[in-house]
Amino acid sequence: MGFLQIQFINLLAILVIIASSKSSLSATPPNFPIAKPNCNDRCGNLSIPYPFGTTPDCYQSDSFFITCNDTFNPPQAFWDNSSIEVTDISLDGQVKVLQFIGQDCYNQNTTSASYNDPSIHLATYFTVNNTANKFTVIGCDTYGYISGQLLHDRNYTTGCTAMCNAKDDLIEGSCTGLGCCQTPIPKQVWSVELSLYSYENYSNVWSFDNCGYAFFVEESAFTFSPENLNNLRNVKKLPMVVDWAIGNGTCEEAQLNESSYACKSVNSRCYKPDNGYGYRCSCLEGYQGNPYLNDGCQDVNECEDPKLNNCEKRCVNTIGDFHCACPKGYHGDGRKDKQGCIRSESLAFKLAAGISLGIILLLLIACWLHLELKRRRQMKMRQVFFCQNGGMLLQEKISRRERSSDTTAIFSEFELQKATNNFDNNMIIGKGGFGIVYKGFLPDNRIVAIKKSKEVDLNQIEQFINEVIILSQINHRNVVRFLGCCLETQVPLLVYEFINNGTLFEHIHNKAKARFLSWELRLKIAIETANVLAYLHSAASTPIIHRDVKSANVLLDHTLTAKVSDFGASRLVPLDQTQLSTLVHGTLGYLDPEYMLTNQLTEKSDVYSFGVVLVELLTGKEVLSFNRPERDRSLANLFLSVMKEDRLFEILEENVMREGNKKQLMKVAMVAKSCLHVKGDERPCMKEVAMELEGLMLGEKHPWGQTGHNEEVNGLLLEGEFSGAINFGDDNSTSIGFDSVKDHFMLPIRGGR
Ligand SMILES: *[C@@H]1O[C@H](CO)[C@@H](O)[C@H](O)[C@H]1NC(C)=O
Ligand SMILES: *[C@@H]1O[C@H](CO)[C@@H](O)[C@H](O)[C@H]1NC(C)=O
Ligand SMILES: *[C@@H]1O[C@H](CO)[C@@H](O)[C@H](O)[C@H]1NC(C)=O
Ligand SMILES: *[C@@H]1O[C@H](CO)[C@@H](O)[C@H](O)[C@H]1NC(C)=O
Ligand SMILES: *[C@@H]1O[C@H](CO)[C@@H](O)[C@H](O)[C@H]1NC(C)=O
Ligand SMILES: *[C@@H]1O[C@H](CO)[C@@H](O)[C@H](O)[C@H]1NC(C)=O
Ligand SMILES: *[C@@H]1O[C@H](CO)[C@@H](O)[C@H](O)[C@H]1NC(C)=O
Ligand SMILES: *[C@@H]1O[C@H](CO)[C@@H](O)[C@H](O)[C@H]1NC(C)=O
Ligand SMILES: *[C@@H]1O[C@H](CO)[C@@H](O)[C@H](O)[C@H]1NC(C)=O
Repeated sequence: MGFLQIQFINLLAILVIIASSKSSLSATPPNFPIAKPNCNDRCGNLSIPYPFGTTPDCYQSDSFFITCNDTFNPPQAFWDNSSIEVTDISLDGQVKVLQFIGQDCYNQNTTSASYNDPSIHLATYFTVNNTANKFTVIGCDTYGYISGQLLHDRNYTTGCTAMCNAKDDLIEGSCTGLGCCQTPIPKQVWSVELSLYSYENYSNVWSFDNCGYAFFVEESAFTFSPENLNNLRNVKKLPMVVDWAIGNGTCEEAQLNESSYACKSVNSRCYKPDNGYGYRCSCLEGYQGNPYLNDGCQDVNECEDPKLNNCEKRCVNTIGDFHCACPKGYHGDGRKDKQGCIRSESLAFKLAAGISLGIILLLLIACWLHLELKRRRQMKMRQVFFCQNGGMLLQEKISRRERSSDTTAIFSEFELQKATNNFDNNMIIGKGGFGIVYKGFLPDNRIVAIKKSKEVDLNQIEQFINEVIILSQINHRNVVRFLGCCLETQVPLLVYEFINNGTLFEHIHNKAKARFLSWELRLKIAIETANVLAYLHSAASTPIIHRDVKSANVLLDHTLTAKVSDFGASRLVPLDQTQLSTLVHGTLGYLDPEYMLTNQLTEKSDVYSFGVVLVELLTGKEVLSFNRPERDRSLANLFLSVMKEDRLFEILEENVMREGNKKQLMKVAMVAKSCLHVKGDERPCMKEVAMELEGLMLGEKHPWGQTGHNEEVNGLLLEGEFSGAINFGDDNSTSIGFDSVKDHFMLPIRGGR
C-alpha cells in the first residue's frame, strides 16, 4: 500500500473537562466573586470560575481540576495533570484549549518519516464543540481522517484529502481542497483519533512540501496560508473549543437532589446544552455572576452600561430590571427606541390650560345654575300667578264653602299641560278674540274644554274670582258646567264640561243641520234657554244677567239639549239694585236698544236678546244680514215690521211653517214680539216668557198679565234647579259684580266646545 501507516501517540490521554462557568467573564466586574471563598480564581491571565478550581476544595469534581504551572511566565493553566493548556473558561459552557496538531513529515535524505498522531479523549460530560471547530488537513499529498466515538458508544469516521501540484496553486485564505481541506464534525463527539497519510511519501511534491498536518481548530482562529505547508512544523498547538456541562442527567433529574444540584444561586435557572449530556446553569435575565455559587447571580446595573439600557436621559436600576426616567420638565417613557423624553409644556402653558379648564368648568356650573334658577323662577312665577290671579282668595272662598268644593277644582298647570298634550295645536277646538279653547283629557277620563283666555286686568282679579265662583255655583242642567280653573299661569286657564254637538247658531243656519231641527225641538230649546235665563235672573241672593244671550252661546249636546255658555260678560245684580250702569256689552243684532242708549243694565236686556234668539228659531234667518234692505238688516226690525203688517208666515222657516201649528206659531211670535219691545219695562220677565212658552208647548194658552199664575210657575221653576245655587253669605255680595265704568272684565267662555 502506498501510504504511510502512522502510529498514534496519545499525547493527550484523557481530557477531563468538567465544568462550568458563566458566559462572558470579561463582563463580570473584577470584584465579583467567581470562585469559592479562599479559592484561587486566577492563573495568569485566565479566570478560573467555580466549578473549576485549582485545589480539591475549590472545584466541584475532579473533572474541573485545573493545574496552574507558575514556572511559566505568565503562569499557564492545564487541564488536570495533562499537557493541554487552557486559555479561557466561559461560564456559558465553553473551554478554550490549545490542542496539539498531528504532523507527518518525510525526510528525502533518509527516506524516513517523522510523525505524530494525536488523539483526544474527553471525559463523559465533555464534547468537542461542533460549530466552532473544524477538522482540518493541510498538505499537498495528504489525507487525514478521524475515527471517533459519539456518546452512547457509537463509532464514527470522517476525513478529507488535501492535494496540490504546485505551490502557486494554493490560495491564501481558501481551504477548499487545494493544499487544505476542512470538514465539519458531528455533535456529541467526545473521543477522537486523528490519522494522517500520504499517497506517495511526498515524492511528487518534494520540491516544496514534505509535510502534512491534521488538527481540530477553532475555525475563526485559523486562516489557511500557503506558508502553512512549512511553518506549521514549528507550531505545536492550535486553539480548540470544548463544550462542558455539569452532570450527565437532565435539569429535572438534577433538581431532584437538592445537595448535588449545581445551580445554587437564587435567580438562576437550569438549561439543557445543545451538545452533549448534562445541564448547565445561568443567571436569570437582569442578573449576572456565577450561577453555580450561592448568591452568585447578582443584579446587573444596566444603567452603568449604555449597551444594556436604551434610556435617553435617565436610567433607574431596579433589582433584576431597570426603567427609564425623564428629568424634570420632560415627560415620556424615556426610551431611545420609543417615545423618549419630550419637553413638557411650560408653566405658562400649563397655567393657560388650567385656566381654560377652569373657565369651562365655571361655564358648566353657571349653565347649571341658570337652569336651576330658571326652574325655581318658574316655580316662583307659578306661585306669583296663583296669588295674582286670586288663587288665595278663591281657595279661601272655596274652603269657606265646603259644599261647592267638590264642584270647583283648582287645577295645576302641570295637570292641564298633561291633559292637552302640552297645549298641542292639534288639541285646539276653538279660536277667537276671546282666546283659545283646547280639548283636554283628564286622568279620570273626563273630556274637558280648557279655555286659555286673554290677559286679565290685574285690578279686576277679585271680580274675576267672584265670577269664577258664580259660575261654579250654577248647577243647572242647561248650563255648561264650569269645572275649575288653573291660576298658576300668567293667564288663568278655565276648565269646562266638553259639549260635543256644536252651537244652536250652527244648527239653525247650517242648512243640513237645520233640516233636523224640528219645530218641536226649536220650541224645546227655546224653553230650556228661557228657563236658564229665568233661573239666573231669579237667583236667590244675587241675580245674574247673562248680557250676551245669542244662538252662538247656546250649545247643544248629543241629545240636542241646550247648554247655555259664555258667562264672560255676565254680571251680578244685587237685589237692591234693579239696574246697573255699565259699558255696553253684547253682540250686535242681539243687543237691547234701550241698553245701548242708556247703558242701564237690567234683566230685560237678556229678555230682548232672548227675543231675537226666538225669532231666529222661528225664521231661521240671520240676525244681521247685509243682503237685506237697510231697514230690515236687523232681524228684530224685520220681524217687528212683518208682524205689524201681519205677514209673519212669509218669513217663517220652511220646516217650522210646515210642522208648526199656525196658532201656536203665532203665539210664539207674539211672545218674541213682546220680548223685543223697545222699552224694557214693557217686556215680560224671563219667568213669564218661559212659562208662556211651556204653556204653548202643552197647547195651552196663557194670556199675558195673569200674574198669579206667574208666581205659581215661578215657585215650581225655582224648585230643584236652584238648590245649591249661589249663596254669598258674606258682605261681598253687595259689591260683587258692580260694574265700574272700566269694568268690562270678561270671563269669555265661548262655549265648551
Ligand atoms: C495574558 O497577559 C499578557 C500580559 O500580562 C498579555 O500580553 C497576553 O496577551 C494575555 N493573554 C491572553 C490570552 O489574554
Ligand atoms: C511545570 O512545567 C515545567 C516545564 O514543563 C515542568 O517541569 C514542571 O514539572 C511543571 N510543574 C508542575 C507542578 O506541573
Ligand atoms: C497530578 O500529578 C501529581 C504528580 O504528578 C499527582 O500527585 C496527582 O495525583 C495528579 N493529579 C491527578 C488528578 O491525577
Ligand atoms: C539531504 O541531503 C542533501 C545533500 O545530500 C543536504 O543538502 C540536505 O541538507 C539533507 N537534508 C536533510 C534534511 O538532512
Ligand atoms: C467501535 O470501534 C472500536 C474500535 O475502534 C470497536 O472495538 C467497537 O466494536 C466499535 N463499535 C461499534 C459499535 O462498531
Ligand atoms: C514510503 O516510505 C516507506 C518507508 O518509510 C516505504 O515503505 C514505502 O514504500 C514508501 N512509499 C513510496 C510510494 O515510496
Ligand atoms: C451518569 O453518571 C452516573 C454516575 O456518575 C452513571 O452511573 C451513569 O451511568 C451516567 N449516565 C450516563 C447516561 O452517562
Ligand atoms: C445527592 O447528592 C449527594 C452529593 O452528591 C449524594 O451524597 C447523595 O447520595 C445524593 N442523594 C440522592 C438521593 O441521590
Ligand atoms: C460552541 O462554542 C461557541 C462559542 O465559541 C458557542 O457559541 C456554541 O454554542 C458552542 N456550540 C455548542 C454546540 O455548544
